[in-house]
Amino acid sequence: MNWDIFIAPYAQVVEELKVKLKGMRQQFEYERDQSPIEFVTGRVKPRSSIIEKARRKGINPENIEEELQDIAGLRVVCQFVDDIYVVVDMLKNRHDFEIVEEKDYISRKKDSGYRSFHVIIRYPVETIHGEKLALAEIQIRTLAMNFWATNEHSLNYKYAGQIPAEVKSRLKRAAEAAFQLDEEMSKIKSEIQEAQKIFNEKQMKKPERS
Ligand code: GTP
Ligand code: MG
Repeated sequence: MNWDIFIAPYAQVVEELKVKLKGMRQQFEYERDQSPIEFVTGRVKPRSSIIEKARRKGINPENIEEELQDIAGLRVVCQFVDDIYVVVDMLKNRHDFEIVEEKDYISRKKDSGYRSFHVIIRYPVETIHGEKLALAEIQIRTLAMNFWATNEHSLNYKYAGQIPAEVKSRLKRAAEAAFQLDEEMSKIKSEIQEAQKIFNEKQMKKPERS
């Protein structure tokens, strides 16, 4: 298997979805004072991670494209928990891809403490050989969930998945703190948004930076 040829459609999917999701963010900013989307990132799973995950899950190389759902990965980061559901509803209403699975790790967090909402989609991407239906994973989470998950991910990498018990229990407490942070921010959401609206208006009056 030629790796570049294999990965090219997925790289295309990531680029297209980044444009589309960032477009949603931009439209919100123009039409409303607030956007439920803070920022969008995307990546193609590195070759070594694809091989490692396929091995770990006992996936046959022929089945990788159907069984590894996150070769193309997008992340939508929101300020507030309820923004996540606004984004999920908008994804459900789109006609440019099909949702094949929803994983709600917010109402049911993982044992690690991980919280996020995942949507697996089937995205039609045009290739030089015609249309290809590629799976992609969109992770939707708050800034607090993202802070926790990126730090936990780094530690998992550092300890090759074997995080020491003491660090693990700290991570659980940090996950609880991140949860509390989301809860508290939700309670003062309207106050925060009012403040940000005023701030944005002031910014708009300033001469534009080039
Ligand atoms: P893996 O967890 O990678 O084996 O994927 P999966 O096919 O079991 O799906 P799952 O929904 O569990 O995870 C998909 C993705 O969510 C992962 O690749 C991570 O990006 C993220 N994720 C899931 N669990 C955790 C976690 O405990 N910590 C962190 N930091 N990320 C997680
Ligand atoms: Mg998993």
